[in-house]
Parts: sequence; C-alpha cells; structure tokens
Amino acid sequence: MITLPNGEAAKSLSVYDDVCRRLLAEEVGRDALFINWGGGAVSDFGGFVASTFKRGAAMVNVPTTLLAMIDAAIGGKNALNVGGVKNTIGTFYLPEMVLTDTQFLATLPQSEILNGMGELLKYALIGDVSLWRELKNLDKVSAEVISPSWITFCREFKERVVARDFRDNGERRLLNFGHTAGHALEAAFAPALSHGHAVALGCVVAAYISYNHNFISKESFDEIYDFVKKWYSFANVSDKIDEIIDYCRQDKKNSNGQIRFILLRSIGSAFVTTTSEQELKEALLYSF
Ligand SMILES: NC(=O)c1ccc[n+]([C@@H]2O[C@H](COP(=O)([O-])OP(=O)(O)OC[C@H]3O[C@@H](n4cnc5c(N)ncnc54)[C@H](O)[C@@H]3O)[C@@H](O)[C@H]2O)c1
Repeated sequence: MITLPNGEAAKSLSVYDDVCRRLLAEEVGRDALFINWGGGAVSDFGGFVASTFKRGAAMVNVPTTLLAMIDAAIGGKNALNVGGVKNTIGTFYLPEMVLTDTQFLATLPQSEILNGMGELLKYALIGDVSLWRELKNLDKVSAEVISPSWITFCREFKERVVARDFRDNGERRLLNFGHTAGHALEAAFAPALSHGHAVALGCVVAAYISYNHNFISKESFDEIYDFVKKWYSFANVSDKIDEIIDYCRQDKKNSNGQIRFILLRSIGSAFVTTTSEQELKEALLYSF
C-alpha cells in the first residue's frame, strides 16, 4: 500500500518519481494490478502510474468521492500537473473495472458532496430531465440523499459516450458542458472555488446562453439559476471579467479563434457549438 499526499499534491512529477522508485525497490513487474483507491486525484495519479510503469500494467479504480464515482474514475483519462498547470501530461488508459461502494460517501464532508454535485448537475442537464427534477427538489445535500441510481446513471452515461469517442475528438466534448466558464472561474478564483463548485457556476452561464438562443425557456434558466444559487456561493465576476475571458480564450477546447461551447438543446440534451467572447462576457455578467 502506498499512501499519497492529499488531493492535487499527489499529481506531481516528484511524487511520480518517488512512487516509481518504490515500485522498483519492491520489484513490482508488469503483471501487477494497481488498485487506485481514493478520490479523483488518486485515480488520475494511479492511472498515470499504471499506464506508464514498465509500459503499462492492469488497474482497478475504487472511487471514494462522489466526483470520482460519477466522473474522474470513469473513462480512462488520467494526468499529472506540471509547473502549476493542471493535467499537463497524461494518458488515455482504461481500468479493468471500477468498483463503487456508496458507503464511502458517509465520511465525505458536505463541501465534497457539493463538489460532486456540480458534476451531477451537469449530467442531469445534458442527459436526464428526470434526474434534474429530482435534484431541483432537494431540500438538503448530504451523503444520505445521494441515490445510488444517480451514480449508476452518470457512470453509464459517461461509459456510453467514452465507448463512442475514447480520445475526445467529438461526442465526449458534451461532457464539458459547464466547463468552459467553469474552468475559467476555477482558475480566476483559485483556490477558493472547488472544481465542482466552478462547474455548477459554469452550468448557469451555459444555461443562460442556451436561453438566449431560445433553446430553453426563461423558466428553465431561472430554475437552474435558483438551484445553483441555493447550494453554492456566487463569485463576484465583474472585477475579474477580463481575466476570466482570457482563461476562456486559452481553453484547450478552442480552435480557429472560436470559443468552443456546449449548449442545451433542451433540458436533458446538449450539443457542441461555438460562442463569441462578447456573448460569454454578457452571460457571465448577467449570471453573477
Ligand atoms: N480523469 C478524469 O476524467 C477526471 C474528471 C474529473 C476530475 N478529475 C480530477 O479529479 C480530481 C478531483 O477529484 P476529487 O474531487 O475526488 O478530489 P480529491 O481526490 O482531491 O478528494 C477530495 C478530498 O476528499 C478526501 N476523501 C476522499 N475520499 C474520502 C472519503 N470517502 N471520506 C472522506 N474524505 C475523502 C481526499 O483525501 C481529499 O482531501 C482533480 O485532480 C481533477 O483534475 C479527473
């Protein structure tokens, strides 16, 4: 058993170097089975080790956070951070299996449940209107209210998309709903905003643009806005709007000068398109 530094600190080249040396000292071979037991930082790090150590050994993910159960441990992306830049190097490498036990959620602090719920909201909006109805009626957020069926839905949804577009050249981009503005807000307000919190805010921005193009109604936008406002604190974006737009421009999802963006066609269905900086700015300023 190798215990990693907590959270993002695990995803570094120096920890990778330490772990590889330790595996060599223990004479671990290619026939090893790596078990990545922990949150998304562990599955990202462990996946990178398993896919590269001696050119690859088998691995199993055992996710212990909500975010890892519905997202990070599924789909075979893993990564390390370099020079403070997240997910700079990584591989696509699928686990042999993902073992999920919702009992792990019992010890998660509410902030981590909310972190996972940002991604849960994303899945509901792009993939399942009935999950959205359940979420919007929640009157508390804790491990007990997380239904195992929600986790199964998200996991199967992601697995289906990944099976059709493993290397993220097409349909897999739908999973980035809420992430263009989300990543930019996360970077601009680091370290105050967790990833899931930023994604929840990013979902509001994407919902606003979807409403602006008449894909969803004002009532639907208001419901999404109210849900996010109820559970997450809003960032004051007006002071940092230029910085946030710069981050959106640098987003790796952009091509040919356009900001690639995922919009809702309706609640439960999404599509990939582009947006302008001006529209994004207006949506950010309107939303927060
Ligand atoms: N590869 C992907 O597709 C993908 C997708 C989304 C996110 N990610 C990555 O996942 C990471 C975030 O994952 P995360 O949100 O799970 O964060 P995390 O792994 O940092 O875990 C969050 C915190 O919860 C603690 N923890 C884990 N399980 C616990 C439990 N059962 N009870 C109590 N505490 C527990 C951890 O020690 C940590 O302090 C980021 O590095 C992100 O880049 C990867």
